[in-house]
Order: sequence, then structure tokens, then C-alpha cells
Amino acid sequence: MAWIRARTAFQPEVGVVLGSGWGPLSELVDAVLIAEYAVLPGFAPATAPGHLGRLVLGELEGRRVCVFDGRLHAYEGHSAGAVAAGMRLLDELGATACLLTNAAGIVNRRLRPGRLMLISDQLNLTCLSPLAGRRPHEVRDPFPDMSRPFDPQLLATLRTAALAEGLALEEGVYAGVLGPSYETPAEVEFLRRFGADAVGMSTVLEVIAARERSLGTAAVACLTNLASGLSPLPLREEDVLRAATGALPQLEALVRSFLRRLPA
Ligand code: HPA
Repeated sequence: MAWIRARTAFQPEVGVVLGSGWGPLSELVDAVLIAEYAVLPGFAPATAPGHLGRLVLGELEGRRVCVFDGRLHAYEGHSAGAVAAGMRLLDELGATACLLTNAAGIVNRRLRPGRLMLISDQLNLTCLSPLAGRRPHEVRDPFPDMSRPFDPQLLATLRTAALAEGLALEEGVYAGVLGPSYETPAEVEFLRRFGADAVGMSTVLEVIAARERSLGTAAVACLTNLASGLSPLPLREEDVLRAATGALPQLEALVRSFLRRLPA
């Protein structure tokens, strides 16, 4: 926060976290400030494939945005607090909303690879929390409510935006796991029976941190592949990334349309 404030007074309205393969969207921003995560206190350099690890403050579709080009994952060895550092930063910079994006495997057979899925609810199966171990002065609410993890108005705006762009937008429950190994077929069947529609290795910790800060949150997954056991093919990172990159035009259209429609 201090590092950024020493350089600009820019106050973002909304944060956009770009998942695997979607970094190029950050180049669309009319940038005021670009900061590598490595220089930001509380952050760490990104190491995951397809994640550049930089923050871009600026304008997109006439809105003041803070775009996170790549994210930190717990499977890289980062603490849950570091993974969610961006949510705390957004709150401190004055943003009131955040759109999280990710790549996910399909658990529910009715879903199709290549589609985008609005996340309606989540299962945090990482056994981690960004709120565990807060120092007393950091605790606003000791037991934050998670009965409405995603903001109904932001979800409605995303649905309208998708409709206007002619994009098929699925909806479902996202299970967030630690990774970095992909699931076994038995784990995917377990996730399905427990109500998951898609599975991935991110997002859930950021959502918890965002809720604690009362940041309005919405999340969109790119359904890059059939999860383990739903397809005879082994899962490979390069295939996941290629599928996410293939959905870039869809995501760009959705994000632009969402930003244009976002209530001031
Ligand atoms: N499993 C976990 N994470 C993922 C997957 C998957 O199948 N696809 C993209 N991220």
C-alpha cells in the first residue's frame, strides 16, 4: 500500500484477478502504474506457469481498475495470507468490488470444456484460511459470515454482460483444492458427490479474504478440461493453459461488458 501510495494517489473501483493464461488482458489497461509483486510488501514473485506476477493500475472501459496479472497459489509454498494479499491491498486502495478468474476442471458432466462458468458458491478444501493467525489488531470480525460468498448484484451484472455479448455462461459450485497434483478419479467422484461442479487450485482463499473486508466478490472459471476420471486422457498443464488462452476472447468480451455495466 505505502509503496503504491508513494507513487500514485490512483484509487481503483474494482479489482480483476487474472487466472492461468489470461495475463494478456492486463495489457488492455490504460496503465497509471505497473508494480511487480516482488517489490510489493506482503506479496512474493509469481512462479506458476502463465502467471506474470504484476499489478496494473489504470483505466479499462472507463473504469478505474487494479488488474492482477497472475496470482500466488498455496501450492507454491505461499501462506494463505500471501495468497490473499491482493484482496487486502484492494480494500486499502479503496476498491469496493473484485472479479476473480481462474481455470478449472469439469466435475459435473453436464458442463462443456471451453465454456465460462460463473461461480455461484465454493468449497474451500485447501484446509487453509487467510484469516487464521491474524494478529489481534487485524481482527475485524472473529467469525466472518460466508452465507453469501458472492455478491448478487455483481453476479446479475455478469449474467447481463454475458447475455449482451452472446456468451454462454454456465453456473456452478467451485471446489478449491491445494494441488499441485491434479486429482485422482476417486477424488473427483468425491467432489461431485459433495456438490462440486468444477475444481481448481485457487480463488477460494481470496474469496474468504475479500468477504472479510466486505469487498463485493464475483468469480468466473474457464472450464479448461474434464477432470480426472471423466476423460481417458492424462491431465497436462500445457493443455489447460492452451484451453484458457483459447477462451481469452470470450473473457475479454465478458470483462469489458461487465465493467461497462458495473454500477458506479
Ligand atoms: N484440477 C485442478 N485444477 C485445475 C484443473 C483440474 O482438472 N484444471 C485447471 N485447473
